[in-house]
Order: sequence, then C-alpha cells, then structure tokens
Amino acid sequence: MDAIRWLGESLALLDQTRLPTEEIWDDYTDYRRVAEAIRRLVVRGAPAIGIAAAYAVCLAAMEFRNRAPGAFRSGMDQALETLAASRPTAVNLFWALDRMKRILAAGVGPEVIPALLQEAEAIHREDIAMNRKIGRFGAELVPHGARILTHCNAGAIATGGFGTALGVVRAAHARGNVEMVYCDETRPLLQGARLTAWELVKDGIPATLITDNMAASLMAQGKIDMVFLGCDRMARNGDFANKIGTYGVAVLAAYHGIPFYTVLPSSTIDMSIPDGKHIVIEERDPAEVTHFAGVQTAPEGVGVCNPAFDVTPHRLLTGIVTEKGVIHPPFDERLAALFG
Ligand code: MRU
Repeated sequence: MDAIRWLGESLALLDQTRLPTEEIWDDYTDYRRVAEAIRRLVVRGAPAIGIAAAYAVCLAAMEFRNRAPGAFRSGMDQALETLAASRPTAVNLFWALDRMKRILAAGVGPEVIPALLQEAEAIHREDIAMNRKIGRFGAELVPHGARILTHCNAGAIATGGFGTALGVVRAAHARGNVEMVYCDETRPLLQGARLTAWELVKDGIPATLITDNMAASLMAQGKIDMVFLGCDRMARNGDFANKIGTYGVAVLAAYHGIPFYTVLPSSTIDMSIPDGKHIVIEERDPAEVTHFAGVQTAPEGVGVCNPAFDVTPHRLLTGIVTEKGVIHPPFDERLAALFG
C-alpha cells in the first residue's frame, strides 16, 4: 500500500482527500501543484510530505533544465521557498528540502538533476526501510491479545510505505498479537475514519471506529491496552506535535495508566529546538470546522479555532519508538545519544 510513486518524468499521488470512497491517482509535473497538493492534504502525514517535496524539487529542476545556470538557480530558490511555505509543522518537509539543497549546492546548473533524482529516491526508500525497523521494534511491546488505540493516520499512506504507528500495528498483527485497533475518527478532517480505517480494513486487521469523544469511556471500561500514534515534529526533550487531539489522548492514557507511545523515524526529530514551545502549529481554514463534507454545520459569524496539531509534553510519554529502538525516559539524554 502506498500513496506516492515516481514515474520517471512525473509524480503520481493518491488523492487522500477522496478516500475512502474513491481511489484516484493524479500525475504532477509542476512543483507548484505539488505544493498545493501538500497544502490541501492530497498528500499528508509528516514523512509523506517530505518525500513528495523532494520529488517536487526534481520536477522544478526538470522544468528549468534549459535555463542558464543563474536563471536555473533563481528558479530553484523560488521552488524551494514555495514548497517550504506549504505546511509549517512537520519537520520532515524541511529536513527533505535541506537534503535536496545540499545536492543543489554541489553543482552550478541542470547537471545536478540525476543526483537530485537519486536523492529523492533515497529519501523515499530510506523511509520505507525505517518504517520496517520501527515496526519490528514496536511489535516487541505488543502483548498477545492487545487492544490498541490510534489517532489520526500514521499509516502506509502517511509515509513512503508501511507506516509508523500503523507499521507497529502491522508488524504486531503479523505476529498474531492484535485483538483490536480502535481508530479515533479525528475531527475535523477524519483522517482516522477515512484513512486509518481504510488501511486496516484493506489489510484485514480488526478495526473499530470511534468518535474522538469515546476514547475516555473505552479506557475507563478497560478496553484499551495501549496507544500508538504518530508525530509531526519532536523537540530534543521529547515534547512532540501531532494531530490535534493527541494531547487529550495522552492525558487520558496517563489518567488510566495506559502505556502511550509515539512512533517516528529520525527525520521527524528536530534537535535544533529545546522543547515543544518552539514548534510552529499550523492554523487551518475555519471552514474545516464550520462545514462537514461541504454542508454548513455552524452559524455564519461564529469564531473558529482550527489548529491542525497540538503539543504533548514528554512527561506523558511511556516511550518513543524509532528505527534505532524504543526510547524510555530520560528522553533528552537518550535522544541526544542516538540522534544528537
Ligand atoms: O494533517 P495531517 O493529516 O498531515 O496530520 C498527520 C499526523 O498528524 C500524523 O500523525 C503524523 O504526520 C505522522 S504520519 C506517519
């Protein structure tokens, strides 16, 4: 299962805004349209955004390939700026653009195109490999008969393939240890209902969809054994941003004594910031909250708050599952030792 394919001269993206009812792939040859696709959540999920942006840099270089070196360079600067402005929170976007910038800096003009393509493909391939390792480490934590709660979508389509939190679920399911995955629907845009439930049903993994406000009650009834969810940016002390609602799930898990793990590749760790206060949180269009599937559900004139992410303090985390293993507190020391 995947959502991003490089076709040699174009990029194909599975339109995640149309799931689960329609599986539509669109071809992109213009980096500006890829930036717009990232902004519109056609492609979404921290690692997937980084991979799509890396391929978009290749599309820009191919568009400007007949320009003189100076004009090629200014076109590429513009492309990098446009892509960086698409979404602010997931650090994977900036991490991938930095890798592409380093390749660009090694040349003067279009002769760098083959190296850019190699780098984008490496970013894509490495992400899948990291997810497989993450899945193996995470599955060690999952006992037989586990009932797992997840929030948003940290699955194959949010990454290069396989997934982070859902990678753990897939690996644990392959060992026969998953009794049920409870998917928070994840208002306002329903990534849990539309995307996570879709991935799990497709893979034949037992899945139960709940609205976000049901998690507390299920935990109180003893129906959730552990929580695995994704991450958009982790600071060097372990504070992390993920889909809005993650913080609430973390508080609930702590109250009920339920192990709570975030799952991420190293490309999601931002060692340049000391804590979660430094993470920029994307504020999205109020219409995502006042309307549901195009139908108005709130009165004109009401104020709206629509942050796409929240920050969970590291002290609510049981552990962090990465491609280098599972990290337990003290997170600052262990993150520095592994990723510093
Ligand atoms: O707004 P989205 O759908 O891009 O938000 C996605 C998430 O919050 C995911 O949990 C996160 O990016 C991790 S994806 C492996």
